[in-house]
Amino acid sequence: MNTYIGVDLGTSGAKFLLVAADGRILAENTQTYPVSYPQSGWSEQDPADWYAAALRGIAALLEGQDKAAVRGISFGGQMHGLVALDGEDNVIRPAILWNDGRTAAETAYLNEQVGRKQLSSYTGNIAFAGFTAPKILWLRDNEPQNFSRIAKIMLPKDYLAYRLSGSFCTDFSDASGMLLLDVKNRCWSAEMCAICGISERQLPKLYESYEAVGTLRRDVAAELGLSPAVKVVAGAGDNAAAAVGTGVVGEGGCNVSLGTSGTLFVSSKKYCEDKVNALHSFCHADGGWHLMGCILSAASCNAWWSDKILRTADYAAEQAGLEGQMGKNEVFFLPYLMGERSPHNDVNARGAFIGMRPDTARGQMTLAVLEGVAFALRDCLEAARANGARIGRTKLCGGGAKSPLWRKIAANVLGIPVDIPQTEQGPSYGAAMLAMVGCGEYPSVQAAAGAVVRVRESVLPDPAVAALYNGRYEVFRKLYPALKGVFPDLRAEK
Ligand code: XUL
Repeated sequence: MNTYIGVDLGTSGAKFLLVAADGRILAENTQTYPVSYPQSGWSEQDPADWYAAALRGIAALLEGQDKAAVRGISFGGQMHGLVALDGEDNVIRPAILWNDGRTAAETAYLNEQVGRKQLSSYTGNIAFAGFTAPKILWLRDNEPQNFSRIAKIMLPKDYLAYRLSGSFCTDFSDASGMLLLDVKNRCWSAEMCAICGISERQLPKLYESYEAVGTLRRDVAAELGLSPAVKVVAGAGDNAAAAVGTGVVGEGGCNVSLGTSGTLFVSSKKYCEDKVNALHSFCHADGGWHLMGCILSAASCNAWWSDKILRTADYAAEQAGLEGQMGKNEVFFLPYLMGERSPHNDVNARGAFIGMRPDTARGQMTLAVLEGVAFALRDCLEAARANGARIGRTKLCGGGAKSPLWRKIAANVLGIPVDIPQTEQGPSYGAAMLAMVGCGEYPSVQAAAGAVVRVRESVLPDPAVAALYNGRYEVFRKLYPALKGVFPDLRAEK
């Protein structure tokens, strides 16, 4: 049977899946790499680390497998990152990532001087600090010598596709997050290129996520022991890939992802724009569109709390016995460790615990972390509903979805049933599905989803707990406005 490689180029590491054409996962592994935070609110990675991880991950995936059965490879990738190459294909500087908040001034310039209305008419979106266009402006103004060397601008997963296939390409879903794409018409915006001082020649060729962009370079194929006929398929931004992987394609499906970031993703067959721009209006990987709310820190909040503060790797033990406290916690956590995107669009916001008493125990604080992330996703759900989205249930994926307690909190805080797919590896599974479609295994992304995505378990909200959480959410909503004015003063260095 034909097999396909799905890669999720994440922030804490890259995940690799080998998937059979009938959807069975044959092998998987994860390769990690560092993130550097050179200044408060900055976040960077070295694209060379991604490529090295890809070679290691694919080689490990294929150990003991039939290499001749591999037909295609595709990607889901962390979105918005600025990867800039010079005329000799050297990476000019470390990639500036999706959760980097250095572009407050450029974001304000775009939203206030160019104007939100203009930006929306060009791209369907306003500027958020993590988007690529403000980073290009930052580079122009702060590192002019680097800016002048730019020959190619690409997104993180596109760097992998370029190194593996030689094709300078991107896909519509990922390109949507650059603030350079006319999302409605699926083409680059000439106006945005002019505003950023770049030309379309510096931007990759656009493809649908399920289209082949080329085949493996001969040297890469030889190194991996694969046929040079293996197709490289464009892939998608990680959230669109995750939605494919959980079967959220076509009209009106919802997927929540608890990865390093957290997202609430609503798929649509029609172009749609958030009236108040709290949510992103992006192309989907199935040929349609979606609205998405993104919170910058989700499973990363629990990783920070558990790994760095409690210094434990045993998340399950830490969460044991907390279920009975759902909806009754007086401790709140604001999950804004890296600032916040949806709905606040505030690079200065930071994490906060509030409500501790002398008898507060670590369990309540652990619970508050999980709840704070769920409340922030509820903010996104409310924003989607304000746009007319009718969301009666959702899929849930990402590393955080492995926690049975977090699944219950999500169902009760969102107040809707939460369906858990067979695999929580949304983006890498979706990427493998896109590879299948690009190689002709299935005629469309919808057909692939119908054939291979299965729900393993549904978690229903408990009406009593959900009612308690409705009350707690009303308290949570008051906390950001109360602290907003203080956040800019928290920084010690100015
Ligand atoms: C989405 C976003 C994040 C990254 C995480 O807009 O910025 O979800 O894609 O990898």
